[in-house]
Amino acid sequence: MNKAVILGTGSCLPERVVTNADLEKMVDTTDEWITSRTGISSRHIAGENEQNYQLATKAARRALAVTGIDAQELDLIIVATISSHMIMPSTACFVQAELGAVNAFAYDINAACAGFTYGLDLASNYIQNRPDMKILLIGAETLSARVNWEDRNTCVLFGDGAGAVVLSGSKDGRGVFGSSLHADGKLWNLLCMDSPESLNPELRHDAWQGTHIRMSGSDIFKHAVRMMEDSVTGLLRKHDLSIADIGLMIPHQANIRILSNLRDRLGVPEEKVFINLGKRGNTSAASIPIALDEAHRQGRLVRGDIVLLCTFGGGLTWGSLLLRW
Ligand code: UT7
Repeated sequence: MNKAVILGTGSCLPERVVTNADLEKMVDTTDEWITSRTGISSRHIAGENEQNYQLATKAARRALAVTGIDAQELDLIIVATISSHMIMPSTACFVQAELGAVNAFAYDINAACAGFTYGLDLASNYIQNRPDMKILLIGAETLSARVNWEDRNTCVLFGDGAGAVVLSGSKDGRGVFGSSLHADGKLWNLLCMDSPESLNPELRHDAWQGTHIRMSGSDIFKHAVRMMEDSVTGLLRKHDLSIADIGLMIPHQANIRILSNLRDRLGVPEEKVFINLGKRGNTSAASIPIALDEAHRQGRLVRGDIVLLCTFGGGLTWGSLLLRW
């Protein structure tokens, strides 16, 4: 059977680095608090000419360059994002125009931090039906434009960036072979961001506080660990695999304590978990594709190895995905 194989990866981070020491000057926080509670020491924050679609386009160009595939050969562009610089058109349409990918249709998906994993599942399904398709899948975020820089509960956590992969069909046994995706909309208000419609007092809900990320951090923490553990355990069982079969686990990079908890519960050895959170922060839908690209460039992804992705985010959305590299 044809499976969706990642032919190339690329990523792009904004130039400006904001350290915890910089944040100490902006809100009532300390480097000690941020490092010990989150594992984050610095993050990249977008500046001029680093809009979401511009970071996405650069990441895409790098992924395409690895594959030797021309932008005009692309059939589809999907961007997972919750921080487009415009509500309409989609970031994917801007990327399509920038790349000159004239033969590709293009759209965004919103599954918050789980967006890239949802997108990979989607791309995999397209490719199973049409194995010759060439799909560009990007996770891109500029959440620096969506956080309240006076709210120490959230502004210290997030970073900006983009990661991209190019996918097509292969029959050599490699590629995406399983996924377990979930959502629970009843928990929407644990992590959310209002839209400008909320400016209409008739449509505004009681909790409206502006178009900023709002979050119940400790609730998200507890749900994240349990949900990812259940998803991974169920997915491995379904495919008759154990943690010992996994070559590398690439989790959503949100908080080092979430990742340590998850690692302990699943029994994954430290060296099998890829972590770049310390210098990236939480880049939401971009976190897994940036990590994938960095893992690839560092030689951590070995051809034929099984790679496990797991993620969670606003929605709530969460899930895990297996692929053979
Ligand atoms: O992609 C998904 C995105 N969301 C997440 O991943 C969030 C998951 N949750 C977390 O990462 C953690 O819950 C946080 C890092 C957000 C918070 O850590 P915590 O250990 O759960 O702390 P807390 O929310 O229970 O707050 C403890 C204290 C509070 O003070 P009081 O009420 O005990 O006096 C907070 O006001 O820490 C305070 N606090 C801070 N202090 C210094 C919260 N943020 C900060 C800060 N600097 N930046």
